[in-house]
Amino acid sequence: MTMMLSVLLAAGVTASSAFSLRHAGSTTVVSSRPPTSLRMSAALIVQNKGGGHGELGFQLAKNLSSNSKITSITILQDAACNDSKEPFASYVSDIPHVKIVKADLADESMTAEDMQSLLGGQSYEYVWDNASKDATGAGKAVVDCAKAWNSKLLTYVSSAGIYKPDGVFPIPETAPVKSTAGQVLYENYALENGLPFVSFRPQYIYGPKSNKWDYIDWYFDRLVRRVPLPIPGDGTQKVSLTNSEDVASLLASVLNDEAAAVEQTYFNCGTNQLVTYDEVATMCAEAAGVVYVNIQHYDGELGKAKFPFRLTDFYVAPDMAISKLGWEGPKHSLKDDLAWYFESYQARGAMSKEMSFAEDQEVLVTA
Ligand SMILES: *[C@@H]1O[C@H](CO)[C@@H](O)[C@H](O)[C@H]1NC(C)=O
Ligand SMILES: *[C@@H]1O[C@H](CO)[C@@H](O)[C@H](O)[C@H]1NC(C)=O
Ligand SMILES: *[C@@H]1O[C@H](CO)[C@@H](O)[C@H](O)[C@H]1NC(C)=O
Repeated sequence: MTMMLSVLLAAGVTASSAFSLRHAGSTTVVSSRPPTSLRMSAALIVQNKGGGHGELGFQLAKNLSSNSKITSITILQDAACNDSKEPFASYVSDIPHVKIVKADLADESMTAEDMQSLLGGQSYEYVWDNASKDATGAGKAVVDCAKAWNSKLLTYVSSAGIYKPDGVFPIPETAPVKSTAGQVLYENYALENGLPFVSFRPQYIYGPKSNKWDYIDWYFDRLVRRVPLPIPGDGTQKVSLTNSEDVASLLASVLNDEAAAVEQTYFNCGTNQLVTYDEVATMCAEAAGVVYVNIQHYDGELGKAKFPFRLTDFYVAPDMAISKLGWEGPKHSLKDDLAWYFESYQARGAMSKEMSFAEDQEVLVTA
């Protein structure tokens, strides 16, 4: 008994709660179901169904697994995801210690009580939400749950798409936002509720176990088929393409300094290694072993141009996360990643896919 008591004390239990536990039951009960007075820090990741950037929750769970502040991880996964697609197909093999709970996050009638019962009544100290598109239904429920749990941090994965850029790049966190965007409504709802709240605004993402490949594929599709690459403007427009592992690292960096995170609230989210549209073309060509790169610049309307093409620069920078949260910076660079990216392109059968480039021709002819 004396030994058990000292173990409990070491785990941070007060003497009186340890005492009552001692009377409450055996060691097995204590170890299988820790009392709330033990300093558990449970993390909840609410994850969208994919199609967009569904791999963020997976990468974040992987990152948090090695963070000593976090003692358990649950992913509340939108049940509309396809379990045979990545990253969902790798949940069991790559993050086996993570508890996965499925929910219909599109259900507009979902309440905080519904969400809590889906989660078996557990509460969470840290919540990351990469699913809610506004402050209704499951989105409202996440905020309400975090409030009911008295969570230490609710971290939201918003989007840099909510900015109304006014020509200043990198876009500062203080730039005006689209006030009716769902993400802004969510941010406001969380703040109105007095939650310790942080919002990240990411841009374009690529990464392993992704379910969205079309950005960089746009380049390879044309390069390997030896067709022209119609790139708007003079091709020197800068863009931020970030490896999802680095985005996950940014999202996890709130744990470095929670007070500073809440004080700043808004963080832009992306690599600081910018690339231009033309640079992406030449780097992809190199990765694919294509010697002749046929870039055709055009002026005027974007038409049906793909990639995330714009006529001007469009990027955010991670300076705020570096200075306020001590984020260590990206571990990946697009240039180095394009080798495995091209392997995955081939493995996905993208080389032999039948493709039409009629829309490219239209852009080039009308320009
Ligand atoms: C899920 O993904 C697999 C593999 O890509 C595909 O064969 C299947 O049709 C998808 N299921 C649904 C319901 O979309
Ligand atoms: C989840 O993360 C991706 C990353 O950019 C983002 O596009 C998406 O909007 C995020 N949030 C939600 C609510 O799905
Ligand atoms: C996880 O995120 C933290 C915080 O940003 C970072 O220091 C760490 O290197 C990341 N871990 C991995 C494996 O990327």
